[in-house]
Amino acid sequence: MASILTNFAMEYKTQVFNESFGTVSLEIEALESLDDAIDALFDDLEKRGCPEELERLSPYFGVIWPSARALTDYLSTLSLRTRGALRVLEVGCGLAIPTLYLLKTLTLCRFRATDFHPEVSRFLSRNLERNGIPSDALEYVMENWAEIQADETRKFDLVIGSDVLYESKHPRELADALLARTRRGGEVIVTDPGRPYLQSFQDEMRARGWVCDPRVVTTVAIEQGNRVPKDVFILHFKSA
Ligand SMILES: C[S@@+](CC[C@H](N)C(=O)[O-])C[C@H]1O[C@@H](n2cnc3c(N)ncnc32)[C@H](O)[C@@H]1O
Repeated sequence: MASILTNFAMEYKTQVFNESFGTVSLEIEALESLDDAIDALFDDLEKRGCPEELERLSPYFGVIWPSARALTDYLSTLSLRTRGALRVLEVGCGLAIPTLYLLKTLTLCRFRATDFHPEVSRFLSRNLERNGIPSDALEYVMENWAEIQADETRKFDLVIGSDVLYESKHPRELADALLARTRRGGEVIVTDPGRPYLQSFQDEMRARGWVCDPRVVTTVAIEQGNRVPKDVFILHFKSA
């Protein structure tokens, strides 16, 4: 199975979307349709004789999720420019829109984005190029957030993630993963569209001594080609 995860690539139909955050515009190549992409993936995996990999390889990374828009908008309100040379990590980054936005607006900072899906790096490279961002401005690592590398431990000033709480194991796994990577005095920001595991995640963070005052913002979701309002929770944790 290692080979399918390492070399896996599908030619999905994609579309380029224009996303604006304040004065910053980003061109984002994303999947044209998540449902069509999952159907195509299922056909492909059946032909390869491993349909059981559908869940692991489903291309959730390739969608512009409302939580990514909300996180990016929220980051744009934080005056991060005044905070100097931050080290920023985005986990479960998918198309990494919040990180692309920060790359366009901050200098001096160092960025790492991670995701465990084997196709993320291809989309990321294309979207960096589309937006005129040098490829070496972002360190991308394909990794499972539950497997912490020694060079990541307590290293980042700001650790962010959007829409990363959608399986029952995620609240505990993610609380451990995020806090293990955040330096003392650092901050963690997670956005979520109100999925069932959001409360458990807050409970897990509280059990580790991290609390926040969640707020709800309204952003945009695209549903059947229409832009509709969508509420998203913002959880901004600061260490005591
Ligand atoms: C719903 S998508 C959200 C993507 C992106 N953060 C956004 O909001 O547009 C969830 C992402 O988390 C990634 N993911 C899920 N479990 C993961 C894990 N254990 N380690 C790393 N990435 C993971 C998926 O591959 C996917 O890209």
